[in-house]
Amino acid sequence: MRALVWHGKEDIRCDTVTDPEIEQPRDAIVKVTSCAICGSDLHLFHNFIPAMLPGDVMGHEMMGEVVEVGSEARGKLKKGDRVVVPFTIICGECDQCRRGNFSVCQTTNRKKDLADKVFGHATAGLFGYTHLTGGYPGGQAEYLRVPFADATHIKVPDGIPDEKVLFLGDIFPTGWQAAVQCDIQPTDTVAIWGCGPVGQMAIRSAVLLGAKQVIAIDHLPERLEMAEAGGAITINFDEESVVERLNELTGGEGPEKCIDAVGMEAHVSPSMPDTVYDRAKQMLGAESDRPHILREMIYVCRPAGVISIPGVYGGLVDKIPMGQLMNKGLTIRAGQTHVNRWTDDLLHRIEEGQIDPSFVITHTVGLDEGPEMYKVFRDKQDSCIKVVLKP
Ligand SMILES: NC(=O)c1ccc[n+]([C@@H]2O[C@H](COP(=O)([O-])OP(=O)(O)OC[C@H]3O[C@@H](n4cnc5c(N)ncnc54)[C@H](O)[C@@H]3O)[C@@H](O)[C@H]2O)c1
Ligand SMILES: [Zn+2]
Ligand SMILES: [Zn+2]
Repeated sequence: MRALVWHGKEDIRCDTVTDPEIEQPRDAIVKVTSCAICGSDLHLFHNFIPAMLPGDVMGHEMMGEVVEVGSEARGKLKKGDRVVVPFTIICGECDQCRRGNFSVCQTTNRKKDLADKVFGHATAGLFGYTHLTGGYPGGQAEYLRVPFADATHIKVPDGIPDEKVLFLGDIFPTGWQAAVQCDIQPTDTVAIWGCGPVGQMAIRSAVLLGAKQVIAIDHLPERLEMAEAGGAITINFDEESVVERLNELTGGEGPEKCIDAVGMEAHVSPSMPDTVYDRAKQMLGAESDRPHILREMIYVCRPAGVISIPGVYGGLVDKIPMGQLMNKGLTIRAGQTHVNRWTDDLLHRIEEGQIDPSFVITHTVGLDEGPEMYKVFRDKQDSCIKVVLKP
């Protein structure tokens, strides 16, 4: 089959690889009808997250049709079922799964020893996301093996286009969880850094959850426009001071709730000197991530506020103002998304017409064009916001 394969830094190719097969009784094979490129894939593209190996198949946002079911998954899935595949591989039975903490499932990471060493304790297996999370082949491919498929799926009804439900596997619940973690009150201002696909979903989620005011920060005009269409007041960080503007919009008090939808690769600019410092340290191998957003959020957040972090961080960050964080009594909530915790509710909201996540798609192309689209998405060429691939 054809698949997008990681060969090294900034080197992803559309190769012919071996078709996946049922390996375990709980497996299923899905014929992928749509998949997407996620901001998290860019961190792998740039080789910022360790433990990718040449030959790894990319992709963790995908859906399709079940074409084969292992003997122990048969009660829950059958040939012909239409499923979105969550990026988190879950057993549905361990203590964490029972609590709904699916992204830290204790069973599915088959490289647990490695992950235990690096993180202290292993997290769940993830599709197409390094050997720290199991080294499972991803879904930017014609076919996908879904391990623990009896639990690892979201059934979707026929008749809804792929585009409307595809993002249930990642960015929609990610933006939603980011907002839910803020415990939004009707009096709250929610500030969201980053108007990429995750930021866009967080904006719409914060609006749906009843925030008084949602403020979105980025510097790309087309993304700010989309944020505004979603109900946010926007701040262009190239044109004005984010901290001053946020304080102005909140009567000098700062936003109660802050969401980091940027993560480890904050934009580098001399107008934000700490980002130049981080870039230099990154080049020396002395810091793995660029945590500008964390510093800015901690500084501007209202005392007793919440910092919610869906943005991915890979390793060690420097110069985090613990004094501000501690003395202001801020709460930090973070995590890879517990996808299946939210998807029943979110599917209903899509079916009821409360939201149509396809608004974020700007490009739809074949799998062969995937390697090129990684660059277009990374460089925000052609006003690219979200790429869908059709294998
Ligand atoms: N927690 C999860 O489970 C989960 C799931 C999906 C994605 N993510 C992560 O969410 C993050 C965003 O993903 P995405 O797909 O939207 O990526 P993206 O790269 O398209 O978007 C990032 C946006 O941040 C903006 N940005 C950069 N520096 C900024 C700054 N200083 N202030 C404000 N905005 C700034 C960029 O212009 C860009 O629009 C990534 O780190 C990704 O890995 C996490
Ligand atoms: Zn993702
Ligand atoms: Zn589990």
